[in-house]
Amino acid sequence: MDSRLIGIALLGSTGSIGTQTLDIVRQFPDRIKVVGLSANNSTKLLSSQIDEFKPKLFNCPSLSSEMKNDKLNGSKHCSYEDMVTDKDVDLVVTATVGDIALLPTVLALKSGKNVALANKESIVMAGQLLMDIAKKNNSKLLPVDSEPNAIWQCIRGENQTLSKLFITASGGAMRNMTDQEKQKVTPALALKHPTWTMGPKITIDSATLMNKAFEVIEAKWLFDVEWDQIEVVIHPQSLIHAMVEFEDGSVKAQISPPDMRLPIQYALLYPERMQNPQLGKFDPVKTGSLTFESVDVNQYPCFSLGLDYGRKNGTWPAVLCGADEVAVESFLKGKIKFVDIPVVIKETLVTHNPLFETKLEDYLEAAEWARNKAEEIIN
Ligand SMILES: NC(=O)c1ccc[n+]([C@@H]2O[C@H](COP(=O)([O-])OP(=O)(O)OC[C@H]3O[C@@H](n4cnc5c(N)ncnc54)[C@H](OP(=O)(O)O)[C@@H]3O)[C@@H](O)[C@H]2O)c1
Repeated sequence: MDSRLIGIALLGSTGSIGTQTLDIVRQFPDRIKVVGLSANNSTKLLSSQIDEFKPKLFNCPSLSSEMKNDKLNGSKHCSYEDMVTDKDVDLVVTATVGDIALLPTVLALKSGKNVALANKESIVMAGQLLMDIAKKNNSKLLPVDSEPNAIWQCIRGENQTLSKLFITASGGAMRNMTDQEKQKVTPALALKHPTWTMGPKITIDSATLMNKAFEVIEAKWLFDVEWDQIEVVIHPQSLIHAMVEFEDGSVKAQISPPDMRLPIQYALLYPERMQNPQLGKFDPVKTGSLTFESVDVNQYPCFSLGLDYGRKNGTWPAVLCGADEVAVESFLKGKIKFVDIPVVIKETLVTHNPLFETKLEDYLEAAEWARNKAEEIIN
């Protein structure tokens, strides 16, 4: 195999990040080879992806056991464990939603593979554990999420201590709404993100700003900074994805049109930057103003909950993720109102008995406990 050809296992290939990752593979077929693909319900799309990319392995939990035994276009069904540790895989891309990616991420890191981390729930739930495993096994967590990816780009080539990180937020679909208007928000309205096109869970998390709290937690672990060194600012244009301040007061910003394919490509081809005609360019004159505001925490109760319980560490962040998953899903199904999302999460959190000397199973169990508790509260 060409030493410049990188073998990837893509978990969640049929979702928003997954399909955009495959767009990057299409652009750079001499550089990226798909070794494994995995999805769940979108079996038709997965099957067409298998036809196109001819991966050695695939994984699809929803298939019947007979179908799992059949080879799809020469591709063999296997477990997550076998896929992420396969000898031809150099990089595992985690593009599933929720905590399904946590175990495969641990296995990949333990077997010395790098992980292009799009899935934020895994690092939110078990940040310290993942960083420790990566360090011990000489493997790397490469951030795909646009804000931590922007920080990673800004610190490239710097041997300086970071003094501050600024993470930007568009403010989501309901930024300028009154409390009364928020009472009537429908799933269809909340799913209309002003600047990004993403999967449903993260779009709602962006509207509540839970997503930004998750990114603060993600940045804390990835860049080894103190909580107080991270500030979130509202930047409605979504062109600056993050800024890094160094000790002399100089600030570097990463700017690009809101398109996840750029951070995905950066993580996949790192350390190379390559031309991709699909990606738009930033035009400062056409853009005009770039504006910033502080976050009104009263407007975004999920943001404060996320930061408060993220800082507490132990099993708290796992409970935060589990409760948020059920609350968002219930809102999307019309079972609760948009404004009930933080209520359900808070009620779940306050009944949790946390563990602090934690191992992998504790995080998974805490998230499962939170999902059940949140369901109970909603019902
Ligand atoms: N979308 C973005 O722009 C963006 C940006 C930054 C970070 N992220 C993060 O990236 C992750 C993925 O987000 P997304 O927006 O791409 O989500 P999405 O569009 O909802 O896609 C989720 C993917 O996960 C798969 N999946 C769900 N349950 C599964 C299971 N039990 N087993 C195997 N696969 C399963 C889905 O497969 P099926 O469709 O086949 O069921 C789908 O391929 C999230 O953690 C999100 O926070 C996303």
